[in-house]
Amino acid sequence: MNEWEARKKIDGLVEKLNYHNYRYYVLDSPEITDYEYDQMIDELSKLERQFPALIRPDSPTQRVGGEPLPAFEQVMHMVPMLSLDNSYDKGELLDFDRRTRRTISGPIEYVVEPKIDGLSVSLKYEKGIFVQGATRGDGRIGENITQNLRTIQSIPLKLKDPIDIEVRGEVYISREKFVELNRKQEEKGEMIFANPRNAAAGSLRQLDPRITARRPLDIFIFNIQWSEGISIQKHSEGLAYLKEIGFKTAPHEVCTDIESVIQVCEEWAKKRREIDFDIDGMVVKVNDLKQREELGTKTKSPRWAIAYKFPAEQQKTFVKDIIVQVGRTGALTPTAILEPVRVAGSVIGRATLHNEDYIKEKDIRILDKVIIQKAGDVIPEVVEVVFDERTGEEKVFQMPKLCPSCGEETVRLEGEAVTRCVNASCPAQLERRIIHFVSRDAMNIEGIGPSIVSLLLENELIRDVADLYDLKKEDLIPLERMGEKSAQNLIDAIEKSKDNDLDRLIFGLGIRLVGAKAARLLAQAFGEMEKLMTAAHEEIIRIPEIGEKMAQSIVAFFEEEENIALIEKLKKTGINMKWKQKGESSDVKKLEGLTFVLTGTLEKYTRNEAKEIIEKLGGKVSGSVSKKTDYVLAGSAAGSKLDKAKALEISILTEEEFEKMIE
Ligand code: IVH
Repeated sequence: MNEWEARKKIDGLVEKLNYHNYRYYVLDSPEITDYEYDQMIDELSKLERQFPALIRPDSPTQRVGGEPLPAFEQVMHMVPMLSLDNSYDKGELLDFDRRTRRTISGPIEYVVEPKIDGLSVSLKYEKGIFVQGATRGDGRIGENITQNLRTIQSIPLKLKDPIDIEVRGEVYISREKFVELNRKQEEKGEMIFANPRNAAAGSLRQLDPRITARRPLDIFIFNIQWSEGISIQKHSEGLAYLKEIGFKTAPHEVCTDIESVIQVCEEWAKKRREIDFDIDGMVVKVNDLKQREELGTKTKSPRWAIAYKFPAEQQKTFVKDIIVQVGRTGALTPTAILEPVRVAGSVIGRATLHNEDYIKEKDIRILDKVIIQKAGDVIPEVVEVVFDERTGEEKVFQMPKLCPSCGEETVRLEGEAVTRCVNASCPAQLERRIIHFVSRDAMNIEGIGPSIVSLLLENELIRDVADLYDLKKEDLIPLERMGEKSAQNLIDAIEKSKDNDLDRLIFGLGIRLVGAKAARLLAQAFGEMEKLMTAAHEEIIRIPEIGEKMAQSIVAFFEEEENIALIEKLKKTGINMKWKQKGESSDVKKLEGLTFVLTGTLEKYTRNEAKEIIEKLGGKVSGSVSKKTDYVLAGSAAGSKLDKAKALEISILTEEEFEKMIE
């Protein structure tokens, strides 16, 4: 394929992919399957690797780009990002309507939108290309977070019309994605977010866009801040136009009087639990843009709009106790035991207090009266202490110096928020590790849950995960609530798990930071447990998506004699230790479909090492240069192969370029 043909092909693919992105992320109505989409992305990536000069800035492969920033730059908004006055009941909405009518004679239409509980951002487009995105900051000056905003799939990189426009919207994380995100964070031993808003805020504040890209951020656009060359009379028309040119716009309803505004607000208040994103109220806006101009703005907020805030779903209760739980990785998590209360439809009896600093910051003490709420309406959290109601009886909580399970000394490393028990044979950790081992994403041993694990440990039937495989039906039958049939089912489920593929076993070992996906990558890359166990740091880090910290954690895990002994013991039970799905990777590999020729003397690798890397990433290595060669990797003193590559106009890579490519 020559450059001209490639350009045509790339242009076609980018247009098509962006269209399907819009169908999927904005309209929520895809026309093609994920598989078909992935195929097109593969084809595009391959072409872009062959013709890097033809990569378009609006290519879907270019959402995550650029190096981590040292700090965010400050940027001035084209139009100040105002905030809203609040109202809390029907009466205040009626007042707002009365005030508006003092200035406007004639009919007034209102647009009512949910007030999304996220972070306000502005997006600037020049000739239809996304050029800058910023946080609200103080309303006049915000921070340039363009790199991070580019990673949000529902933000179009190119609009359907080549116009100059600045829009405003709210970045958020849906409730469903939030739960999943926290589950993954926990699995990796990383920070748990208190609610979707905090998670979205933390994600946008990342200096490294690759981290932001892994967070399930989304956006609703709710305003045209500034534009040139479009004539729009009403806000509702503006929203329709925004949707048309590629934006995901906020849901909205047009009302012709304040009574119906109130009705819409009340309806949303009722259904707010059923929608998949957090809202903290509604926003009522005058629809006609001329009327808006007439009404004007105050210093910080417009006179043409008002927020209607829902009463927060909070309850007062008291902290009966603060207990500490020991997790699988030894992390000590303080939890408040509460006098049970009903909040947002469910009874809350405990709330996580995350860590020592969190408790200090809020000054939460045992026996304190506290206000609690369901953060993101999912996880219960303590909002604040009711200091006025302190009696003096309250007790300050101390993070235990000794592990509540094994009694060993706990440690809190400098710069870390987490206090840990580092005793590898701590019973609480052991229990958690076994629960993790049998869990659905790990060895998936059906029928064994936390209560059975704890029974097995109490009755000294197991001391580690390998002991599960020595259990006999007769051992189980005497256990509480265990019949002959269920005992047999458990034995069968345990037996069946021996055939699991290697990734499940790797994940099940509970290596710190290694989640299910990383386990799969490791299984794929090393093919068998033995190789993973002896893998050097450099080999592990070479796997795309496996970072420095995780590689360190893996090496450290396999250096522990206890862990080696455990794996030996597992092996003896007959558990599968090999990767079975060779070549069936569902993950796109970086060099999939590319053919390389190696020539000259390489400095960083031997020929064999380079070959191994290429093959691991899905590429092929051939001995001679032909038209089918995609790249020639040339070291020093390269000879005739290099000449041939030049003659055939094949891309020639230096070692540095090759390294960049496989990064
Ligand atoms: S309109 C000048 N509409 O609520 C008009 N704001 O102080 C400005 N928000 O930080 C706001 N959903 O980011 C508007 N549908 C919506 C909104 C919304 C959420 C946020 C906004 C602002 C805060 C109000």
